[in-house]
Amino acid sequence: MNEVLTNILERSSIRKFKETPLSQEDIQVLKQAALASPTARNLQKWHFSFVCEKEKIATLEQKMFESTSDDAKARAKDRGMSFFYHAPLMIFISSQDLNHFSLVDAGIAVENIALAAQSLGLKSTIIGCCKDLLNDPSQNDLRTYLGFPEGYQFAIAIVIGYGDTTKEPHALDMSKITQL
Ligand SMILES: Cc1cc2nc3c(=O)[nH]c(=O)nc-3n(C[C@H](O)[C@H](O)[C@H](O)COP(=O)(O)O)c2cc1C
Repeated sequence: MNEVLTNILERSSIRKFKETPLSQEDIQVLKQAALASPTARNLQKWHFSFVCEKEKIATLEQKMFESTSDDAKARAKDRGMSFFYHAPLMIFISSQDLNHFSLVDAGIAVENIALAAQSLGLKSTIIGCCKDLLNDPSQNDLRTYLGFPEGYQFAIAIVIGYGDTTKEPHALDMSKITQL
């Protein structure tokens, strides 16, 4: 099996990270992987906020707790009160909602980043749970704080770091495929 396929088949969501920060070289590779993603009509109406500052991630985490339902708080409690798993890097993809494919474009980019991270020996989890908070019209300051360009909305995020646990990739369900 070639390296690309190995990375695709071995990626899984990891929710416990070491504190070890990423090297600038690895961060640079992740930036390239993000920007290499295809977009509908090559519009590239996305923006990537690479948040390496712990305090910024912690501020958002705090706001998540303040805004979240009791039910979600209870589920977060099961995970050690963390929505973002204390990863040393969190990347937010925001996009300008110009066409029906904005979210598809962001989804492709986040998987490009996840696979690049996997190939670098890093682990990741894609994060969607901050969508309601970040797309709340009253949270313009928070979007600016995270570097979203004016008028851009949250699409998806990903946390990345060195894994401090392991998890098997999910089982492949061939019934999801029809071959005609
Ligand atoms: C669009 C999307 C949003 C997700 N949001 C979250 C999230 O907010 N928190 C989380 O822990 N995992 C989140 N995940 C990770 C999924 O739970 C995970 O991909 C799924 O359980 C399959 O496991 P695997 O990634 O190990 O194959 C998200 C995944 C996707 C694709």
